[in-house]
Amino acid sequence: MKHIFQKGKTPAKPTLLLLHGTGGNELDLLPLAGMIDDEASVLSVRGNVLENGMPRFFRRLAEGVFDEEDLVLRTNELNQFLDEASQKYEFDRDNIIAIGYSNGANIAASLLFHYKNALKGAILHHPMVPRKGIELPDLTGKSVFIAAGTNDPICSPLESKELQSLLQQANASAELHWENRGHQLTREEVEAAAQWYKEIV
Ligand code: MLT
Repeated sequence: MKHIFQKGKTPAKPTLLLLHGTGGNELDLLPLAGMIDDEASVLSVRGNVLENGMPRFFRRLAEGVFDEEDLVLRTNELNQFLDEASQKYEFDRDNIIAIGYSNGANIAASLLFHYKNALKGAILHHPMVPRKGIELPDLTGKSVFIAAGTNDPICSPLESKELQSLLQQANASAELHWENRGHQLTREEVEAAAQWYKEIV
């Protein structure tokens, strides 16, 4: 997968996996990584799917309606890419924290939904429930921060709460942070995520 890797100053720190929103690329979230932990290694990946020229991490049939078969395939592809990248760049495969926005948050949530050991934790900005009706792996020891908007037209407040509760039922710790805004990624929610990160690392 097309990506950027930046080696951090402190090898014991997690590797931050950056996953952009629809129409974005691997450069978009680099400033966020600096705000969360400027000593951590960064792996920023570009989604392999194109929708009218806009990169995404998996196909969708309509806004908010995911192509489940492609979602499963692309989640597996990203998980394997993480295995390969950890060997190539010599970082700890078991210490990856994803930072995703919108479609990138959805594929990060999908990694958690499908693989017990894909991620150590995740900061999910405006995620949805990636797949309904499946049994999640045991996520004991995993920490998730969800940032949601009370007026988000794409990810409803109900869906944000459902995601938190599904992760908690799978034994993950999952914190839900609200902004009185829509789908946009705000500085305030990144600051709240940075505070959460300090407590879990
Ligand atoms: C998705 O397709 O993953 C969500 O609808 C968010 C987005 O617009 O990318």
